[in-house]
Amino acid sequence: MELFEAIAQRASVRQLEAVDVPEEDLKRILDAGRRAPSGMNRQPFEFVVIRKRETLQALASAQGCIGDVSCAIAVVADPERSRFWLEDIAAAAENMLLAITALGYASVWIEGTLLRDEETHKRTLGVPENLRLMIILPIGKAAARVTQAAKRALEEMVYWERWGERRG
Ligand SMILES: Cc1cc2nc3c(=O)[nH]c(=O)nc-3n(C[C@H](O)[C@H](O)[C@H](O)COP(=O)(O)O)c2cc1C
Repeated sequence: MELFEAIAQRASVRQLEAVDVPEEDLKRILDAGRRAPSGMNRQPFEFVVIRKRETLQALASAQGCIGDVSCAIAVVADPERSRFWLEDIAAAAENMLLAITALGYASVWIEGTLLRDEETHKRTLGVPENLRLMIILPIGKAAARVTQAAKRALEEMVYWERWGERRG
């Protein structure tokens, strides 16, 4: 799928069905995350690939759809490695979401529900105390057709040359 099509097609899909995710696709998705820009190129992120059914089901207490897929990627951050760590993991996550979409899968950025009980989920994945378990991206197939949430119009958020100036 072409880049601009993937950007437009990406949507948060919360009702997911399990689908086979071959190693080759998984590596392309992870590589998209690895290639994300990061402040001073510190790359303060690591990824945990989760394929075991019992682990996916344990993580479903964060958000149910994790238990419905055959594969998920957890994004782990090391805040001591860069003061830009939050931005850096967001760039990595978005790169992976676009790759997931481009390869024909569906996903959703799971962070808010994960952080409600980060400590429990860190234990499930064996993430060290000093690191943060910030995001999980389940990889599946959309159970029903889902489109991207409505976005504000460009005209509403873009100014020209100076803040507040619309194009005349
Ligand atoms: C920082 C962040 C945290 C998010 N956390 C969750 C979450 O915990 N659960 C969830 O279902 N969606 C979560 N989302 C997805 C957003 O709800 C979603 O991107 C937004 O509603 C817009 O929909 P769209 O992705 O279809 O454009 C999160 C997105 C971001 C960027």
